[in-house]
Amino acid sequence: MQTVGYLKQYIIDVINHGSKQLAFKSDEVMEGGIALEEDAPKIACYVLELSGKKCKTPYSKDAAMYYSSNCAGCHGNDGKGLHGAYPDLTLPTLLGIKKKETFLRRILK
Ligand code: HEC
Repeated sequence: MQTVGYLKQYIIDVINHGSKQLAFKSDEVMEGGIALEEDAPKIACYVLELSGKKCKTPYSKDAAMYYSSNCAGCHGNDGKGLHGAYPDLTLPTLLGIKKKETFLRRILK
């Protein structure tokens, strides 16, 4: 079971450091560092909101605007990843978290 805090931290890490582990669509990767590190938590809260989850501190209007101009081009305004073209950010378990869990389960066997 993942808590909202865990999920938020995962999204912040992807925003700051990128993601290149999912081999999504012919190895396209997500670059980290497009947002200022101080803005990443607010953007993460907005992403959580897209799947109906709530951060303790609500996202600001800026974060919503930031998302639509910098993230929605790939992940869609609704976060669902433009019909499979990019990762769906509203899945119950995000792909990167699922991958980490599978890996841990395998080495713990
Ligand atoms: C140029 C297209 C593009 C843009 C713009 C983009 N992403 Fe991504 N994003 C991707 C791709 C491709 C991946 C998967 C990369 C991989 O690991 O293979 C990804 C992965 C992610 C993941 C991990 C998904 C998972 O299922 O584990 C998160 C979270 C994420 N992006 C959030 C964001 C946020 C927030 C923004 C805006 C700051 C953003 N992305 C902007 C293309 C993009």
